[in-house]
Amino acid sequence: METSTFRGAAATDGDQLVGMLLGQLEGWIDGDLFLIQEMCVAPNRQNVGIGRRLLEYALAQVNATDQVIAAYLLTDGESRAEAFYSRYGFGRSSGKVVLNLRLKQPAGHR
Ligand SMILES: CC(C)(COP(=O)(O)OP(=O)(O)OC[C@H]1O[C@@H](n2cnc3c(N)ncnc32)[C@H](O)[C@@H]1OP(=O)(O)O)[C@@H](O)C(=O)NCCC(=O)NCCS
Repeated sequence: METSTFRGAAATDGDQLVGMLLGQLEGWIDGDLFLIQEMCVAPNRQNVGIGRRLLEYALAQVNATDQVIAAYLLTDGESRAEAFYSRYGFGRSSGKVVLNLRLKQPAGHR
């Protein structure tokens, strides 16, 4: 599935959606970046290789058809997602930082 800037992949079992990956191309100085915005596999279908196939498929697609020089995503450090992606060569960026601005305190904080 794709539009001019979005790229996606779905894993199905019959008419059931069991996993998806959605990402977006972003222009950068020396080529495009592929931002992986969402990826998930149905809880009762995890750990059988669906996530690996979705990721490999999406990366192969953007590598073959787009001027993508790197893929990236935002996730919590030391999380299960970091452990998953690190298996496929993703590492913490040495050159880029995430800057954020808190606009509201999370519920329950004073
Ligand atoms: C993370 C997620 C997408 C992985 O999908 P999956 O289909 O369960 O993963 P796979 O079965 O393809 O696993 C591929 C490999 O990663 C490993 N792996 C899977 N989940 C892992 C985790 N949470 N931590 C570490 N390794 C993990 C598997 O053991 C497997 O290793 P192997 O090839 O050596 O056997 C899935 O667990 C999920 O949807 N989690 C909740 C949502 C989420 O965290 N999304 C990612 C943030 S964008």
